[in-house]
Parts: sequence; C-alpha cells; structure tokens
Amino acid sequence: MPPSFSERSSVALTSRPQWLALQAHAEKIVPLHLRELFERDPARGERLHVTAAGLYLDYAKQRVTGETLRLLLELADACGLRARIEAMFRGELVNVTEQRAVLHTALRATAGEHILVNGRDVVADVHAVLERMAAFCELVRSGVWTGYSGKRIRNVINIGIGGSDLGPVMAFDALRHYSRRDMSFRFVSNVDGTDFIEAVRDLDPTETLFVVCSKTFTTQETLADAHAARAWCLHAMDNDETALARHFVAVSTNEAEVVSFGIDAGNMFGIWDWVGGRYSMDSAIGLSTMLAIGPEHFRAMLAGFHDMDIHFRVAPFEKNLPVLHGLLALWNNNFLGAATLAVLPYEQYLKHFPAYLQQLAMESNGKHVTVDGARVDYPTGPVFWGAPGTNGQHSFYQLLHQGTHLIPCDFIGFCQPLNRLGGQHDVLMANLFAQGEALAFGKTAEEAKIDGIPAALVPHRTFEGNRPSNTILAERLTPHALGTLVALYEHSVFVQGVIWNIDSFDQWGVELGKSLAMSTEADLASTSEPLLAHDSSTNALIRHYRQRREPRT
Ligand code: F6P
Repeated sequence: MPPSFSERSSVALTSRPQWLALQAHAEKIVPLHLRELFERDPARGERLHVTAAGLYLDYAKQRVTGETLRLLLELADACGLRARIEAMFRGELVNVTEQRAVLHTALRATAGEHILVNGRDVVADVHAVLERMAAFCELVRSGVWTGYSGKRIRNVINIGIGGSDLGPVMAFDALRHYSRRDMSFRFVSNVDGTDFIEAVRDLDPTETLFVVCSKTFTTQETLADAHAARAWCLHAMDNDETALARHFVAVSTNEAEVVSFGIDAGNMFGIWDWVGGRYSMDSAIGLSTMLAIGPEHFRAMLAGFHDMDIHFRVAPFEKNLPVLHGLLALWNNNFLGAATLAVLPYEQYLKHFPAYLQQLAMESNGKHVTVDGARVDYPTGPVFWGAPGTNGQHSFYQLLHQGTHLIPCDFIGFCQPLNRLGGQHDVLMANLFAQGEALAFGKTAEEAKIDGIPAALVPHRTFEGNRPSNTILAERLTPHALGTLVALYEHSVFVQGVIWNIDSFDQWGVELGKSLAMSTEADLASTSEPLLAHDSSTNALIRHYRQRREPRT
C-alpha cells in the first residue's frame, strides 16, 4: 500500500532511504560519460524510449542506467505518486493551501464520464460550456454574429494575462495552420499601453470582438486593458453602451464582476475554481483558440489531452511517459545539479511553447516550502527557458555545448512538416538530431587533433559532451498532438511536485509584488509630493520618476 498523503508528508524527502540511495548512486554516475554508457550497451538507443498517445520520447541520452531508473521509480513509489495521481483525478483537495480540487483533467473528460466536486458532476458542466462555446464560435465564424453596425467580425482580440494569455497565445500560434485566415487574432496582456495601442492600431472597432479572459476578473492589467478596449469601442460607436454586447464576451468564474464591468451575463463563458490559470487553455479560456481553429479541431485537441491523461493514470510507471519525463528532470535537477531546463522545439509554430511552459512549470514548482510549511533542503523547480531551433543554435547553444553549466535539453520535433518547402524539413530535423548527438558525445581532443586542428586551438575546439537531453517526436503538429504534448508537461510538473512534497497549484509568490504595486501606484498618482515609506532606493527611484514623467492626460 502506498503511504497516505499525511504519512508521506511526515517523512523528510532527503531522509528517505530511496533518496539516499539515489545520492550514493549519483556518485557513481557523475564520472561516467554518455560515450561509455552507449559503448557498454549498444542497444541502449532502441531500449530507452517510450511511446504514448502518439508521442515518442527518447531518453537514451540522459545520464542514467537501469539502476538509476529503478531507484527513481522506487522513490516515486515511496512518495505515494500513484495515490497522488488518483487523488488529483478524483477531485480531492490536492491544492492544499487553497483547499481546492485540481481538475484540469476534467476539462477533457469525455461526455458521460462523471467526476464529482461537492456532489456536483463537473463533466456535465464542462460539456455544457463547450457546447455554448461551439455554438458561439459557429455564429462568429459564419458571420451570423455581427458587430453593432451589422458588419461581420473580422478580428478577435484576447485580453488576459498569465494563464489567461499564454495558453491562448501559444495554442493560436501552434495551430495557426488550422486557423481561419480571413480573420485576425491578437492578444493583449501587458498593462503597458503599447500592447493595446499596437494591437488595435489598424483595426476597425465595428469588426472587432474582445474576449476578456480572467479567472478572477480582478486582475489589474486585464481590467485596465479591458477598459481601454471599452473606451476604444464606445468612441467609434457613438457612446452607445448597448453596442458593447456585440463586441465583448468574457471568460471568468466571477459573474458579478463581469456584469459590473458591463458585459452581459449571457456573453460570459464559465470556468471553475478547480482549474488553475496555467492549466486552463483547454477550458473556455481557449475561446479565442476555438474561434480560430473551429470546434472540431478544438475537440481534437481535447482528445489529445485526454489520451495522455488516460496513459498517465493507468500506465505502469516504467512505461509512463509523464512519470519518466518528470523523474528524469528531477534526477538532473536534484542529483546532477542542473538548475535549468531548455525546451527547444524544432517547429516554428511552437515558438511560444517555451514561454507557455515557463508559467506552467515555474509558477507550479517555484516553491521553497513543503505542503506542511517546512523549508525544503533540496532544489525544487528548475528554470525553464528556450527558443525554437534552429534559431537558438545561432545564439545560446554555444553555452549549451561549451559553457560551464549543465543544461539538460528537451528537443521537440515532428516527422512530417505542415509546410513543405523543398528538402528543408530534413535540414531542420537533421539539425535537431545533430544537436542531441553533439551534446551527448562531444568531440575529444584526440578527435580534434585527427581533424587537423592546430594544437593551440584544440582546447577551444574540444567538446566535453555528456550533456543530457530528451528527444520528443510526434508525427505531425495536429491539434491532437498539441494536446498530448501540453498534457505531458502538465503531468511531468505534477510528478516532480509530488516528490518534492510542494503544492504545485498555488502561486502565493506573485502576491507581494502585486500589493506593493498597488501602494506604489498611489505614490506615483499623487498630485502633491507624497510622503514615501519605501526603502531609500525605491523612494529615490520614485522621486526620480516623478520629476521626469509626463503629466497624466
Ligand atoms: O498573478 C498570477 C496569476 O494569478 C496567474 O496564476 C493567472 O494565470 C494570472 O494571474 C491571471 O489571473 P486571472 O485569470 O484571474 O486574471
């Protein structure tokens, strides 16, 4: 029997025998080179991979042996991972500091499944909203839904920030190939007015629909941009407030605030407090995605998420893609000392994927206390970063290959391109495979000498190698494949959070800055010289700014 949640949290992670065994094992692995691991086991490349829901994960280039994997799986068992997965899927209060269920998996459950939260079947609620979304999208896409002057909607602008922006932005770009090309889709997130001004500068308000996405509908940036959008519309619509109903819809949990902003409750699509912002791109927060790609493609994306969910829930851990992915990330972080992880999609449509994963992973696992409030004595979530290949190769890969930091990489590629241009897809994929190979095996000084490199340059032209990577391949970037890929990372993040015994679903770390910004804004807005009560550096900065800023209009 896996230990219960309370039993599990009472044992300090670093005192667990499985953790200690991994520490001792790491001492044997650290001096080993991937070259040696491949020489010892020529079939390693064929063996160390796993497939699920259309994804192929090659992890042969990780610095692991069979023993490493066995010990990691034992650690997962000891930490009660199986029970925690079940607890999440069943809707238990996995988000302990907010006492909430965590049920993004219910967003893609099939009709007819039943998941109860406080006695209510949330799957039925999810499907009711999906149907309303689909009906609305059909009206807009077909031109039946018109703006107040009778013109069809040509532009959709999503206003939201964090999870109410990054998912929609990423998904729109990832699935742009499937999107309506006779409509434009834009995303406004920043409270910096430039974001809004640039987004609307060439648009006609009477052809523009705003989707205001905010789970809480209290987020400062989103409300500021939504008010700007409202004023922009009203200015073009003779200040006719009734016109707004044709140009504004909202996605939120907070009907009262939506209505008080001036959006009709009938134009609101609901989400629920058991959906975390960074886990919400497949809820109504994805309304702009559905408007772009249509309900059928959106459903295919949900099916991809769902296929990975099922796999994560039932597959044995040694063949479980998110479990292995999460454990390997933990191994690199906690036992090989890698503080960051580079995500490198060899797919231009995934250019926003690293930024999306930054919120998913870093807001989830950027925690320094356990669920019980004890300071951790081990590193938690690594820094996620990255950029599409091959572009990154000509900027930061130098550091990946020859820098002093160990940076594990996730390479992501697709066997078939969406846009074939001569032989360029083979060139792209050749680069992907070459990078993983170069990072793993490097180039020895002897090899450099054989290549005729002058002696003085040999140290500069030597590649240590032994830099670990995963390679994730899918057939083609379809809506289904995107769903599987996102769900893989969602669950991988969860696996790591369970082992670290942290709450991966709260985000208290963003609160202090938010509340300080509120009081600082009052200091900036004050018409008379305010009495400043910040530290001396912040006070000086505020004075410097106040002396130079332009007066508000
Ligand atoms: O400030 C962090 C955060 O709460 C994120 O977790 C969330 O995705 C974002 O702000 C936006 O929140 P909302 O959807 O409530 O506007």
